[in-house]
Amino acid sequence: MADLDDLREGTDYSGPAAAATDFPLKGQSGQDWGMRARLSRVFDPADGKTVMLAFDHGYFQGPTSGLERLDRSILPLVPQADALMCTRGALRTTIPPQNGKGIVLRASGGPSVLKELSDEETAVAIDDAVRLDAAALAVQVFVGGEHETKSVKNLTTLVDQGQRTGIPVLAVTAVGRDMVRDARYFRLATRISAELGAAFVKTYYVEDGFETVTSACPVPIVIAGGKKVEEEEALRVAYQAIQEGAAGVDMGRNVFQSEHPAAMLAAVRGVVHDGLTPAEAFDLFETLSH
Ligand code: R5P
Repeated sequence: MADLDDLREGTDYSGPAAAATDFPLKGQSGQDWGMRARLSRVFDPADGKTVMLAFDHGYFQGPTSGLERLDRSILPLVPQADALMCTRGALRTTIPPQNGKGIVLRASGGPSVLKELSDEETAVAIDDAVRLDAAALAVQVFVGGEHETKSVKNLTTLVDQGQRTGIPVLAVTAVGRDMVRDARYFRLATRISAELGAAFVKTYYVEDGFETVTSACPVPIVIAGGKKVEEEEALRVAYQAIQEGAAGVDMGRNVFQSEHPAAMLAAVRGVVHDGLTPAEAFDLFETLSH
């Protein structure tokens, strides 16, 4: 039986109401509690920024350089990331459930590098995403691509399922090989993605006019690292993107293809979370590499 002895009447009702806290992520204040809680597992609530470690490349590339053995290359990096972007296969086989990170689950797929990449379908059922405790779903959007409408439909399907279950969707703007990667294109692709319900959008940094991409997009933007370049250059790009309004990076090859991935990830964190300049971050990289 419940203990009913000494039930005390409350008496402490005075004082002003606690101030409402603003949700730090652009355009997300109106989302439901579960959606904001999940977004807070991707973006650090202290500064609203994120360093996502992307290693989902195998879903269409197979074991690309740096990802031959996820257990050896990625597992040691996990503690340094805010969030992990990966497939459910990588998650179940390699990532321990006690990792404590926001999982951004790859949720589209189909064609390999041998075929037309824009011909994707949704690749995860929403109940499996719930079972995996995904903090977000990631879907490729091929604006201007051969299967543009189909990929946009993948986005809206996942957004509908995510709104029902409280899981935000990351739209990944995918640019075809023969398409121009400029601010005009990324304004179009990121804005379409946000208008159709993405909670955050991944795009590439461009030297001219990136600030117009971030300002015209009503939700946070994170940048992909892109192909491997010198560490100093990748840190400069990350720095510029943050200065021009990005809310973080979703970086893969420039971390796991570095000769010193842990040092590189620490330097990227320095840029995103600690305001290090590219020169300071590169110094940190060099110090940690030796
Ligand atoms: C690309 O297909 C994947 O979504 C990657 O996660 C994304 O491109 C980020 O990786 P990287 O920094 O290597 O471009």
